[in-house]
Parts: sequence; structure tokens; C-alpha cells
Amino acid sequence: MSKLIKTNILLGITGSIAAYKAADIASMLKKNNCNVKVVMTKNSTSFITETTLECISNNPVITDDENCKNLTNFTHIDLAKWADIILIAPCTGNFINKLANGYGDDLLSTICLAFTKQIFVAPAMNPNMWNNPITQKNIKNFVNTNISIIGPDYGIHACGDTGYGRLMSPDAILEHISQSSNTKDFSNINILITAGPTREPIDPVRFISNYSSGKMGYSLAEIAKEMGANVELISGPVKLEPIKDIETTYVETSEEMLEVVKNKVKSKDIFISTAAIADYRPSACSNTKFKKSNKNLVIEFTRGIDILKKISKDNKNLFIIGFAAETENLDKNMLYKLEDKNIDIIVGNIANHQKNIGFENDSNEVIIASKNEKYHIQKDKKILIAKKILSFISKEYKKKLSIIKSKDRGSDGLNSS
Ligand SMILES: Cc1cc2nc3c(=O)[nH]c(=O)nc-3n(C[C@H](O)[C@H](O)[C@H](O)COP(=O)(O)O)c2cc1C
Repeated sequence: MSKLIKTNILLGITGSIAAYKAADIASMLKKNNCNVKVVMTKNSTSFITETTLECISNNPVITDDENCKNLTNFTHIDLAKWADIILIAPCTGNFINKLANGYGDDLLSTICLAFTKQIFVAPAMNPNMWNNPITQKNIKNFVNTNISIIGPDYGIHACGDTGYGRLMSPDAILEHISQSSNTKDFSNINILITAGPTREPIDPVRFISNYSSGKMGYSLAEIAKEMGANVELISGPVKLEPIKDIETTYVETSEEMLEVVKNKVKSKDIFISTAAIADYRPSACSNTKFKKSNKNLVIEFTRGIDILKKISKDNKNLFIIGFAAETENLDKNMLYKLEDKNIDIIVGNIANHQKNIGFENDSNEVIIASKNEKYHIQKDKKILIAKKILSFISKEYKKKLSIIKSKDRGSDGLNSS
């Protein structure tokens, strides 16, 4: 269940005798640190009260009732944008048949129609209603949509009949959502991630480096793997434990980093560069240790290698994400980098070690931007920020692939009339 932490879950409740179990489901979601908002169909309100769900979810419940104070003209769109997952539990036969045919004739079904992410439906109905050929035919419509079914269970029903149609247990429903959410976004996609700082030697015992801890890159690697990607990591010197089942190459200097990235990136679809690579390095590394003397020591620095720019120039089909740690003018500087390096996405954050922001911290707050979209990810644990960054990457990557595919079809003459 840890995967669902801080996930925004819209719990839809419909008019089934099993509606009282929705209280348990909402309560379990809250215990697992999900943000829960409840939307009830008009019919469901005669099975369980809004007050119960309001207390459990700690949010106002929204219904189709004309007296509902929480409705605005755009409630359906706002809630569809807010939610990461919609769970309809219990879901009546009526509601399944509506969903399967794309109806939006009440608030909950209209939200579902406007929702582009994953919808889970946990049916609860009499076995005859479940086995009804119309219900069964409609369920087949869910194939290749964003709707998936959890259950139903087999057993004795409130009416005394025995058969399929019982609501799955709240435990099983939550386990199912946790296992299925996010796992497929990157399946069969090869991702290379760099993390941590580089060290540029001054003499055999000294180097210049930065405060990067590698935590952001390691968090991205872990979540990308959970989302089904084949991940390889290139790490600068960090104090983090290696991640189980992720092939990691350790490097020290920016030159080593460039060599490994150049080799590894050839077989990849996506390159995420979080490493804080030295912008300047000593023009020469002394073979012997600089001795103490009464004079000042002057070291000349040369401009370092711009790995991101080079990789982007040499790998036109690669989908590339860069990171920009700035101490001022974040918006302007990060958008300049997006253009200048000709990459697909930039993630920017304010970094100031003296002020405990960004570097070395377990939390971060970032702005993420592609060429057409930009959004602010509020301060949160790096592992949760990683989840949001990867969802954005997945969406933009799919968009780019579909543009490439449609161009290919165009050049084959397939899309000409
Ligand atoms: C006492 C009672 C219990 C019901 N239980 C169920 C049920 O468990 N599953 C179901 O699909 N319909 C059940 N129904 C029928 C639905 O409430 C009815 O189809 C309603 O229109 C569903 O509305 P909704 O899908 O908008 O919530 C029940 C009806 C009554 C009166």
C-alpha cells in the first residue's frame, strides 16, 4: 500500500446495499495517507449518509443533490483534474452499464467521462444482475479503456442468492489498486538516469565538487523501476545504498560521466540527467600535492563539458529530461536551458545549501516544464516528487511518440485521403 501515499483518490459510491462498506474503504485509504474525496450518486445516499463519509474522508462529500453546497459549474472538470485515481466501490449494475456506454447523466459518470487516468470499478449486485447478458456484454467494452474491474466476489448475497456479484473485501480492493497503479506506464521502456555530484581533481588529495546527494536521481530510478521501466543508473560519489536490481555504474569525474553516458544512452529511450556535473574543472591536475606556503594558491578553471547539450545534439530520437538547480530567477533560467540544450523537459528547483533547500535534503519543491506545459510540484518528500515527475514524463513521452507515429504515417501516405 505504500505506493498510494499522498495519492488523490476520488471514491465514487453508488446505490448498492453494500454501500455501507464504502466507509471502511474510505477509512483504509485515509490510514494509508491517501487524500480522499467522496462523490455519491443520489441513490447511494439512502444507503449511507454523507455525514459518515464527510467525517471519515475529512473532506466535504459531493452529491448530485440540488441542495449540495459544494457544487460549482466546473465541479466535474475540477475533480477529474484533482484525482490521480477514481475508485467506484460499490458500483451498481446500473452504473457499470452507464459507464460502459459513455453516459454522463449525473455528476459521478460525468467526472468519469472527463477523467483520463485509471478508473477502478468494484461491482456489487445480485448474481442475476451480474450474469445478465447485457451487463456481461457491456463489461467487454472496458477492454482498451482506462476502466478496470476489481472482482466481484462469489458467495451468499443479502437477498439469500448465491453466486458472483459480491463486493470484494476492502483489503482486496486496496491491494489491487496499489498493485495496479502506475505499474504499466514505462513497461518495455529503457531509461538511463544519472545522479549525484562529480568530483574534479585538483591534486592527488583534493577535488572540487558540489553538495548534490544523489537522492533525487535515486528516487527517480526506484519509482521508474516500479512503473515498469528497465532502468540503468550512473552515479557520482554518494552516500546512498545501491538500489536492488538496478544496474549502477559509479563514476567520479565529469569526463568519466560523459564516456559512460555516451555508451549507455545508445540503447535507451529516455535519458534523465539529474547529476550535478561540474560546470568548471581545474585546467590541470597537479601530479603532486600542493605544498603549504605563505603565498596564496591560484588555480585556473576551464569550462566543463556540457553533457546534456552534447547528448541531445548526438541523439535526436532520445527523450531527454534535464535538471536545473538555480539560486535565483528559476523560471527564466530553467526555460532558457530547455531551449538552449534542446531537450524535452526541464525540472527546476531553488538550490541553496546554506538555506537547507534542495541539495542534500529529503524534500524538494520543483517546477517542471515541457515546451507546451509547465507546473509547480509543491514541497514534498523526494520519493513522492519523483512519482509526480515521472507521471509528467510519461504523459509527455507518449505525446511525442504519437506525434512521431502520425508523421511517419503521413510520410507513408497512410493518412492521406
Ligand atoms: C434495497 C435496495 C438494494 C439495492 N442493491 C443493489 C445492489 O447491491 N446492486 C445494484 O446494482 N443495485 C442495487 N439496487 C438497485 C439500484 O439502487 C438502482 O439500480 C439504482 O438506480 C442505482 O443508481 P446509481 O447507480 O445511480 O447509484 C438496490 C435497490 C434497492 C431498493
